[in-house]
Amino acid sequence: MSVALETARLLLRPFKQDDLPAMAPIWADPEVMRFIGTGETRDAAGSRVLLDHLIVHWEEHGFGVWAVVPKGDTTPIGWAGPSVPDFLPAVLPAIEIGWLLGRPSWGHGYATEAGEASVAFAFGELGLDRVISVIYPANAASIRVAEKLGMAPCGNEVHPGNGRGLRIFERFADAADPPPAGA
Ligand SMILES: CC(C)(COP(=O)(O)OP(=O)(O)OC[C@H]1O[C@@H](n2cnc3c(N)ncnc32)[C@H](O)[C@@H]1OP(=O)(O)O)[C@@H](O)C(=O)NCCC(=O)NCCS
Repeated sequence: MSVALETARLLLRPFKQDDLPAMAPIWADPEVMRFIGTGETRDAAGSRVLLDHLIVHWEEHGFGVWAVVPKGDTTPIGWAGPSVPDFLPAVLPAIEIGWLLGRPSWGHGYATEAGEASVAFAFGELGLDRVISVIYPANAASIRVAEKLGMAPCGNEVHPGNGRGLRIFERFADAADPPPAGA
């Protein structure tokens, strides 16, 4: 199975411990973390735990969210890719496609570009017939990314960590591809 993917502008590769200095400021930004997990930022120790969690997910499952690195660069600007949403037992078994970028990288179509590659990987290399995304209803940018990836709402859940409502989006492998972005 491939461990890294390339898109037009991005390299998607597994995280490594060296990524902590690039990712810690992103995970410390309240605007970025508002709709991630229970919505809390990570301090230095929390970022180390989160990075370890991402790396262990790869070791346990053979896949996981990738570090998103612009081509020609070596520093990650965020994450994207498939993971097991074990924080939300009500939706299991399922694989979630997620995306998170540092603020300077918003608005360039990177999440959609990485998300498209992630969905293709999930249906191709992972052989899945369905993927989901778990999104807070107020996260309009993320909902728009899900829509652009051809995902549709399929239900609501409650985050066990904070009692806030979550919207579940899904896409099936045999669904028609969405129209190109901007169409
Ligand atoms: C969600 C996130 C990854 C989007 O990244 P991005 O690279 O800017 O996304 P894209 O550029 O591919 O697409 C964003 C789309 O949302 C739209 N959008 C952005 N902000 C919006 C808002 N406040 N309301 C409605 N639409 C919005 C953009 O216009 C674009 O749609 P378009 O192509 O039709 O114009 C980024 O905002 C982020 O990292 N947020 C913090 C982490 C997060 O919440 N992750 C998702 C958890 S479910």
